[in-house]
Amino acid sequence: MLSKQPFERRILIAFVLMTVMVSGLFSLSIVAVVHFIEEHLVSQDMSRQLDETLKEDISQDLAPRLDSSTRFFSSDQAQYAIPAEYKGLQEGFNEVVNGDQAYYVYVQEINGQTYMLVQEQEEFEARESALFNVVLAGFLLTVIAAWGLGLVTARKVMAPVTRLAQQVRHRDQLHPLAPPLAPDYPDDEIGQLAAAFDSTLGQVRQSLERERLFTSDVSHELRTPLMIIASSCELLSEAPLAPREKEQVARIARACEEMRELVQTFLQLARDKSNEAVFIGERSLASVAEEQACRWGALMEEKGLAFQMQVEGEDHGQYNATFLATVMANLLRNALHYTEHGSVRLILEQGAFRIEDSGAGIPIEQHERIFQPFVRGAQARGEGLGLGLSLVKRICAKQGWQVSLQSEPGHTRFRVTLNTSSV
Ligand SMILES: Nc1ncnc2c1ncn2[C@@H]1O[C@H](COP(=O)(O)OP(=O)(O)OP(=O)(O)O)[C@@H](O)[C@H]1O
Ligand SMILES: [Mg+2]
Repeated sequence: MLSKQPFERRILIAFVLMTVMVSGLFSLSIVAVVHFIEEHLVSQDMSRQLDETLKEDISQDLAPRLDSSTRFFSSDQAQYAIPAEYKGLQEGFNEVVNGDQAYYVYVQEINGQTYMLVQEQEEFEARESALFNVVLAGFLLTVIAAWGLGLVTARKVMAPVTRLAQQVRHRDQLHPLAPPLAPDYPDDEIGQLAAAFDSTLGQVRQSLERERLFTSDVSHELRTPLMIIASSCELLSEAPLAPREKEQVARIARACEEMRELVQTFLQLARDKSNEAVFIGERSLASVAEEQACRWGALMEEKGLAFQMQVEGEDHGQYNATFLATVMANLLRNALHYTEHGSVRLILEQGAFRIEDSGAGIPIEQHERIFQPFVRGAQARGEGLGLGLSLVKRICAKQGWQVSLQSEPGHTRFRVTLNTSSV
């Protein structure tokens, strides 16, 4: 239970618990020692009084000269006959409780006769309860003081840690110009922790910067050659070419367009949401699906697979066209690669789409793994890297879409839910 408390409270609880233990033990010992000494003194005092009474009063046939709270009894004199409740007590000091009254009884045997002094405990009780009150008050005060002191100490101890946590959480630490944390702290454990944060954050900043430069370099460097290829294809397509050559040029133009889209996809994945608006082209599920069906349907038919696009439900949503096309293309490419004969179907639902194939299927134990980067399944074909599904998963996570997989031999179904609220 203690380990679930915040650190500051744990210090405080430990502080107070320790004080309760030490001060409680100390108070109990004080009470016990005082009790013991007082009893010892009372016993000595009564022994002396009994001696004096016997020697100075009883032996001279005088009445015992005792204070009002003390009485004398003896077994050999009828006027001092021992009351029944005090009979049979052992020699020496005894405590007897009689109703709500308590008595000290001191017994001495001389020549077979029993002599006894009985003293009321009231005075001692009063002193004892005063002592008890003082000790209890001291104990409570110590615990309250420990709580206050613990609170101040815990705050003081935790202040630099709390400050460091806030700085790490709130300051724009990944900004390249963010000042280092370590100089704000003395060179103790917290200073070392701050230095460790600085070094880790430095590495993260460097790799982010590298990634940023990489994506902008890619966009910059690839855009120009892609534009040149695209415009050359356009010029070539207008030139007097044989139909076969014209088709080749059209394929180059399509591949160029695909490459441009992919560059855009990677750029979008690397950028944060704030920059996204610049790139987004929104399109409907049907229009993206038709384009992809056109592109992949031809290749499937070339391979001898039956390809079908079915519309099961009208969808009116608008989606990020680049991302949707990339997800669909990757799933269709996999269906094409991993289906040897039979059919592939692209089915549009309201707020979702499915891609089903009649390939060998994916064993259930691989269902989670194949979505990880660089993981390829048992029936990997061609030169793929195992990145397709991981890209699909990352895009879906970024867009709030959901991808699910059902597979058995002869039937594999990937379903992507685009509008999670409508399904
Ligand atoms: N429709 C499918 N039928 C059978 N197996 C599949 C299907 N889709 C994916 N897989 C399995 O999942 C693995 C991972 O797929 P993923 O698309 O991530 O990588 P890849 O296709 O091997 O390579 P890349 O996509 O990078 O070219 C594949 O190697 C394959 O074994
Ligand atoms: Mg793939």
